Amino acid sequence: MRKTLNLVVLLSGQGSIFEALCQAIKTKQLDAKILAVISDNPQAYGLIRAQENQIPTIILSMKNYTDKEAFQIALKETLLELSPDLIVLAGFMCILAPSIVQAFPYQILNIHPALLPKYPGLNTHARVLASGDTEHGSTVHFVDEGLDSGPILAQEKLAILSGGSVAELEERVKTLEKKLYPKVLQWFAEDRIQIKQGQVFLDNQLLKDLNKF
Ligand code: GRF
Repeated sequence: MRKTLNLVVLLSGQGSIFEALCQAIKTKQLDAKILAVISDNPQAYGLIRAQENQIPTIILSMKNYTDKEAFQIALKETLLELSPDLIVLAGFMCILAPSIVQAFPYQILNIHPALLPKYPGLNTHARVLASGDTEHGSTVHFVDEGLDSGPILAQEKLAILSGGSVAELEERVKTLEKKLYPKVLQWFAEDRIQIKQGQVFLDNQLLKDLNKF
């Protein structure tokens, strides 16, 4: 059954991927509504993009809380109140506390700029260039309690150009991410994703870790 997905987007920076989601909604490639954008960074340009798209913004700045735990509790309460179908991480630079992950099982998605399980963590483009790899890309995955380690939903690859820079690679990865993330979210809107006994299925086909093949 098709439905309009209620999303909450978490971001910390530029928000160009979030902007791509807004465009996909406007052009009806993604049947979703963004209930709110939450940022831990009051200076995030993504917040301005949200205002331009008439989407409510919520700033939860770490410095307004006594410690990380208090911040995570506030974030969890905010998310529970919004009660989205999916929580969409789009350049959110905080690791979610286990209690948040547990409160939203298989409801939190992230897009990571690397072909996971290779290169979890930060500075992926520089690390890929330094490695001499011939391909790179991006991964959409469920968020679990580990670092960029939850079940993979989809990956998109690109070839690494010789003599390319980190900035050039980042730009090319973001270009493919702007198509990949709306595509995967639309699978949820079309009810094409199922979780059975901890395994993820698309159209009743088991989604295996793509990098194993
Ligand atoms: C994207 O490359 C995404 O993969 C990563 O953070 C970046 C966000 O970019 N998680 P932007 O802030 O949306 O421009």
